[in-house]
Amino acid sequence: MLIRIPRGWQIPERQATAESAYLNRRQILAAMALPSILPAANRNPQFTLDRPLTEEWAATSYNNYYEFSTNKQEIRSLAKGFKPRPWTVEIAGACAKPQVWSIEDLETKMPIEERLYRHRCVEAWAMAVPWMGFPLSELIRRAEPQAGAKYVRFISVNRPEEMPGIRYSGNYPWPYYEGLRLDEAMNPLAFLVTGIYGKPLPNQNGAPLRLALPWKYGFKSIKAIVRIELVSQQPETFWNKAVPTEYGFFANVNPKKPHPRWSQAVEQLIPNMERVATQPYNGYEKWVAAMYKGSEI
Ligand code: MTE
Repeated sequence: MLIRIPRGWQIPERQATAESAYLNRRQILAAMALPSILPAANRNPQFTLDRPLTEEWAATSYNNYYEFSTNKQEIRSLAKGFKPRPWTVEIAGACAKPQVWSIEDLETKMPIEERLYRHRCVEAWAMAVPWMGFPLSELIRRAEPQAGAKYVRFISVNRPEEMPGIRYSGNYPWPYYEGLRLDEAMNPLAFLVTGIYGKPLPNQNGAPLRLALPWKYGFKSIKAIVRIELVSQQPETFWNKAVPTEYGFFANVNPKKPHPRWSQAVEQLIPNMERVATQPYNGYEKWVAAMYKGSEI
């Protein structure tokens, strides 16, 4: 692995110098009255857990994005030619008000805020990322789900011409797709992301729109979303279709439930690979456990 190990990155998040640095940057930009496509995003402290903030260079150069590559460290450069604008996302299916949103309208009309979330991959690495975006429930609510809507299906963009991984891994069931139960999608933690570290979302992190579901393994946090459908049946998911024995639908972080090929009891923090104990629901139990009462998912 070619990861640089920086000195002194491991500061507690409450001292987060990165925060003051980019808040400052924003204030300076505002004072200069420069036009910016980014509305100011205040951090919502409500869901913040004590975990050192991952440095921006690490979160933007160690990625999973199979449409580009299976090699985490080459995704950033392979994604340079991807065009995240113009972009629209369609909300359709069992709803009274199906709608199409441009990314600019989402960025300016939705209540954009910043959330510092843990990000735990099923491969047992983890980060803490300051995402900017808005609750998924805001979008779904506006579409007015009908009684038959029990699940939500998400579909990624399918652009083999800009995404070499689609061309070279033809046996995967492209485009990438994911799903949530409606109550999970409406949970306040479910977050649609338009930016990170106070900047527009980089291509390699899922520009211009991706999910962040911090209590679930990262593969549920689908990138480059073009379509959201309200459906009556539990939808198929990309990884369950590709490897049904290894990846289920709910995929809640659970240290007691090993992956068929490795333990999930411990995770390693990117970039220095410090080992920390994995927590049930990735530490978000108090916000989400009630949704799974009586079931082992
Ligand atoms: N979304 C799409 N469209 N394609 C992918 O390959 N990988 C998932 C998820 N979303 C993936 C995706 C996985 S396995 C993880 S861990 C996260 O994105 C990684 O997000 P990050 O690169 O921003 O850390």
